[in-house]
Amino acid sequence: MVLGGSSPRYKIAWLPGDGIGVDVLDAARLVLDGLKLNAEYAHGDIGWEFWCKEGDALPARTVQLLKDSDAAMFGAITSKPVKAAEAELMPELKGKGLVYRSPIVRMRQMFDLYICLRPCKAYAGNGLNYKNDIDLVIFRENTEDLYSGVEFNPVPAELAQLLTKLSKPFAAFKDVPLDELAISNKIVSRTGCRRIVQAAFDFARKHHRRKVTVIHKANVVRATEGMFLDIAKEVHETYPEIEMDDANVDAICMWLLKNPANYDVMVATNMFGDIVSDLAAQMVGGLGFGCSGNIGDKLAVFEPSHGSAPKYAGQYKVNPIATILSAKMMLDWLGESEKAAAVERAVSSVVLEGKVRTYDMGGSNSTLEMGAAIAAKL
Ligand code: IPM
Ligand code: MG
Repeated sequence: MVLGGSSPRYKIAWLPGDGIGVDVLDAARLVLDGLKLNAEYAHGDIGWEFWCKEGDALPARTVQLLKDSDAAMFGAITSKPVKAAEAELMPELKGKGLVYRSPIVRMRQMFDLYICLRPCKAYAGNGLNYKNDIDLVIFRENTEDLYSGVEFNPVPAELAQLLTKLSKPFAAFKDVPLDELAISNKIVSRTGCRRIVQAAFDFARKHHRRKVTVIHKANVVRATEGMFLDIAKEVHETYPEIEMDDANVDAICMWLLKNPANYDVMVATNMFGDIVSDLAAQMVGGLGFGCSGNIGDKLAVFEPSHGSAPKYAGQYKVNPIATILSAKMMLDWLGESEKAAAVERAVSSVVLEGKVRTYDMGGSNSTLEMGAAIAAKL
């Protein structure tokens, strides 16, 4: 936090990225400027352009900016599979063994942003709501699991030998040539499981939520998901006033769709949380309403859950509400709860009136018109 003199209270790293990331962050800025938040917004280079030109979509100067900031707003970034990414590098960068990894995943791991917080709330009057009265909050572990990046394709002979020795089920693959095998590791730690479950229960306690649902697949993925479920049960003991239930991730997808009102706070490991949070966002208006926070103990990065939608880039057509609600989450995180509440009231009221609607909501207003309409209600 920047203190003293006339310097702004907060330093916010401003990371539009590419595609529609630029469009939606411009709209969010109209809202933040309307609030007169005492902040300095510092632009950071991030995205596909920097991968192609510099071989790094998250340049070191941007990492430094994040270290010097209180929080960040992030738009979106185009990402492509490893080979397609290599093909777009500047000629002098090719063949140097540079490997593209999603910058948002890197930021989550580098800054230990272990909570991915994804509220999904059906705002009254939103014609896109699957059902009214949905008010879910998803806690997704954000640093471990299938996102560990520990992957092999082809599989090294040493690893295959060790697996043959240590794992009976690996025998099923014993005749497959190693260059025809691929392994992606799902790695979780007790600490990682505990802190995300604790964050979910703490939130439930603070916000008087009645229940935490643990999403898992402990019946099949026993080592990791089993550990997650066991730890959730242990943690629950210290929150006796809050109900806890659990279910397999596949069943959750059916039940959530059938009876969303049965759910309140939900918690999952990284990949299942990724999947269930898209499902939940669709139930409250789609990715135009899916907001999220990547939260650590020292830094937090807020972003819409949607991608960069390159075909709409620069057209100022997409719905910025997800980003504006992410900015609201940032205000809460900074402790600016009155301003956060004002943003939420403004969003609710614009949605309820239904006069200003972007194309996904059946209207023809632009990204910036939506931002301006929300700012005008503050
Ligand atoms: C998300 C996205 C990311 C993820 C992608 C862009 C790497 O889907 O934030 O949910 O998989 O976490
Ligand atoms: Mg996702």
